[in-house]
Amino acid sequence: MKNVNEEDIKNALREVRYPGFSRDILSFGLVRAIDATDGVARLQLAVTTADPTVPAKLKADIETEVGKVAGVNRVEVEIAVTKPRTPPAPGAAQATGEGRIADVRFAVAVASGKGGVGKSTFAVNLACAFEALLRRRGKPGAVGLMDCDIYGPSVPLMIGISGRPSVDEENLIQPLENFGIKAMSMGFLIDEDAPVVWRGPMIMKTIQQFAQNVRWGKLEILVIDLPPGTGDAQLSLVQTIPLDGAVIVTTPQAAAVNVTRRGATMFGKVNVPLLGVAENMSYLLDPATGKKNMIFGEGGGERAARDLETAFLGQIPLDPEIRAGGDSGVPVTVGDPDGFAAQAFARMAETIWQTLEKKVE
Ligand SMILES: Nc1ncnc2c1ncn2[C@@H]1O[C@H](COP(=O)(O)OP(=O)(O)OP(=O)(O)O)[C@@H](O)[C@H]1O
Ligand SMILES: [Mg+2]
Repeated sequence: MKNVNEEDIKNALREVRYPGFSRDILSFGLVRAIDATDGVARLQLAVTTADPTVPAKLKADIETEVGKVAGVNRVEVEIAVTKPRTPPAPGAAQATGEGRIADVRFAVAVASGKGGVGKSTFAVNLACAFEALLRRRGKPGAVGLMDCDIYGPSVPLMIGISGRPSVDEENLIQPLENFGIKAMSMGFLIDEDAPVVWRGPMIMKTIQQFAQNVRWGKLEILVIDLPPGTGDAQLSLVQTIPLDGAVIVTTPQAAAVNVTRRGATMFGKVNVPLLGVAENMSYLLDPATGKKNMIFGEGGGERAARDLETAFLGQIPLDPEIRAGGDSGVPVTVGDPDGFAAQAFARMAETIWQTLEKKVE
């Protein structure tokens, strides 16, 4: 009998997406064990969800995809389901100030309804744009960046930080720093390919720790990158940390605009004000003529903003330099501060800052 290659099974699992999410279940860290002997593929998963359709859908999709692997005659899927913690009453944290991060003036989340729209890219560049803005006003080093994507943290790579944070004498974690930004991410705490079976139940605990056990110091603003989607996990996250506002990132396509609405509704439920909608990957800029090529259509972000009765913050071009900046760990806002993309981020940071300051006047 032909031996089954474990790599082939992994590749098959990369084809299975978590329902409603853009990420595959392998990179999500849901797969606990893979075993293939005598043509039987045995898979163990650990999932945190209150939705009974999720394990059923995952099981069916895994059976389909892994069933296609050469040498596999039968697929056995075992899914351990954990129920997420019941979130506190909406608005409870906001009302009492409970959970507020010491010495952080504004906490702002970057969210979207859909995965892969560029939230993390946006969050990192926005943080850098805030740093530049505050530095000009005589307050350098007053920006924090919290990566709440526990399953697939992308902040470390995008902001060029690797290494482990240290714990000080008061048992507080020291955030790691680059470009004047203090950052905290699950990516600093665990190896990328370490077993992540415990991550699911740990989400709430980790976020609480990021909020309360990290020595953020005195910050003017903490930018929070959320994981994709609008599931229970996201709802719990936004309730763990009292937020002063949320920025919704979208792309021009109409489909994405519909899901934008879903993403925003979540904040309404927990009384977090929307600061605006930012449209990412809006157009290709012709560097020779300066002409904007609206390859994905026009007006999606503006329509979404109108629909949500919030501000339209503007457009970020689809720019290879933005992607390269994310991959190299030098965000375009830092690497090419006078460039077109950086200026778009700078304008948005300025607008958001004004809105936040107005709120406290
Ligand atoms: N304006 C842009 N121009 C070019 N590439 C971009 C732009 N914005 C994001 N990207 C690229 O698109 C990819 C997805 O971006 P990113 O990881 O920021 O999305 P995300 O919404 O955070 O994804 P997830 O939902 O998985 O967290 C990355 O490779 C990033 O470099
Ligand atoms: Mg992301």
